[in-house]
Amino acid sequence: MPQTVRGVVARTKGAPVTVENIVIPDPGPGEAVVDIAACGVCHTDLHYREGGINDEFPFLLGHEAAGTVEAVGEGVTDVAPGDFVVLNWRAVCGNCRACLRGRPWYCFNTHNATQKMTLEDGTELSPALGIGAFADKTLVAAGQCTKVDPEASPAAVGLLGCGVMAGLGAAINTGNVQRGDSVAVIGCGGVGNAAIAGARLANAAKIIAIDVDDRKLEWATNMGATHTINGKDLDVVKAVQDLTDGNGADVVIDAVGRPETWKQAFYARDLAGTVVLVGVPTPDMTVELPLIDVFGRGGSLKSSWYGDCLPSRDFPMLVDLYQQGRLDLDAFVTEKIGIDDVEAAFTKMHDGTVLRSVVEL
Ligand SMILES: NC(=O)c1ccc[n+]([C@@H]2O[C@H](COP(=O)([O-])OP(=O)(O)OC[C@H]3O[C@@H](n4cnc5c(N)ncnc54)[C@H](O)[C@@H]3O)[C@@H](O)[C@H]2O)c1
Ligand SMILES: [Zn+2]
Ligand SMILES: [Zn+2]
Repeated sequence: MPQTVRGVVARTKGAPVTVENIVIPDPGPGEAVVDIAACGVCHTDLHYREGGINDEFPFLLGHEAAGTVEAVGEGVTDVAPGDFVVLNWRAVCGNCRACLRGRPWYCFNTHNATQKMTLEDGTELSPALGIGAFADKTLVAAGQCTKVDPEASPAAVGLLGCGVMAGLGAAINTGNVQRGDSVAVIGCGGVGNAAIAGARLANAAKIIAIDVDDRKLEWATNMGATHTINGKDLDVVKAVQDLTDGNGADVVIDAVGRPETWKQAFYARDLAGTVVLVGVPTPDMTVELPLIDVFGRGGSLKSSWYGDCLPSRDFPMLVDLYQQGRLDLDAFVTEKIGIDDVEAAFTKMHDGTVLRSVVEL
């Protein structure tokens, strides 16, 4: 029997979100219904509600979530009712050209539920990133459920479902930070702070945090930054060079995603160093550089999609590190809120007063 539950819906472009009754079908073949425990508020949810992702309104928002599998459809064997899971937006297909080459973290054909969740009048909903977890329950592809230690706090580990994984992975997977490296991170929101935590996990020797907001730099210091730079007051490239014997950092991560920050990243890295772009630019943005600088500085210029993560490999491992006290996921949870508070959380995110607000369901 389909069930009716509460969910946070963005009905039209730019309008405040509303809590609505939504209808969840029984899981079909390859699908699962998950009883959501907690879901973080990510910048991408706000992008959806502003029409910045696509025009497929109404959206069911929320996509950084943990919960318990309630029911599974035909043919599902990897997860079962009662399993505690973190939801992911990279349910790899196993058959695309990336998967077949043994690089499933680049999968070009990831799975989502086939059936649609709807409003009570039958209007089909578009779930954010194929998840839609600001809701008591949601319908996903079974492969979007990654089993983790059920003892872990849902509010903390749910964040691995998007922004925190993107930042950790930008450092560990894409940037391939090594023991002893110097790392600079530009932009210290949830994603940048996670990149700092990732650099620390990888035993970087020097971790330089850069932001234009002193509050964010304080968070970054707690997360493991060894040095901070306020980009409002200082020439960022020179400041990073000054902190690295005049050379620049081995890995520079741009967690803002603007032409000016990417250029700072480009010039603030050491010769043969690595730039990682994890902040998401808008389609109108361009950069112009002397080509000789691209050649002459060597190294690699990379982008990081979802931290190049493989959920089945990375989520359980990171939850274990969290449980052992080696990765402080609780530090990302600035506040726990109710399902009616998502719009207020967008305002706080915009004002920079939170790393993450987490909806408890
Ligand atoms: N690549 C991915 O898979 C992925 C996944 C999730 C989020 N993201 C993207 O990562 C970016 C960051 O997300 P977030 O949740 O941390 O956002 P956020 O708004 O919490 O953080 C952005 C930070 O950048 C700082 N900042 C802004 N302009 C700056 C400048 N010129 N110099 C230095 N710092 C500056 C802000 O003060 C803020 O602290 C966004 O673009 C988001 O869309 C990417
Ligand atoms: Zn694939
Ligand atoms: Zn997100």
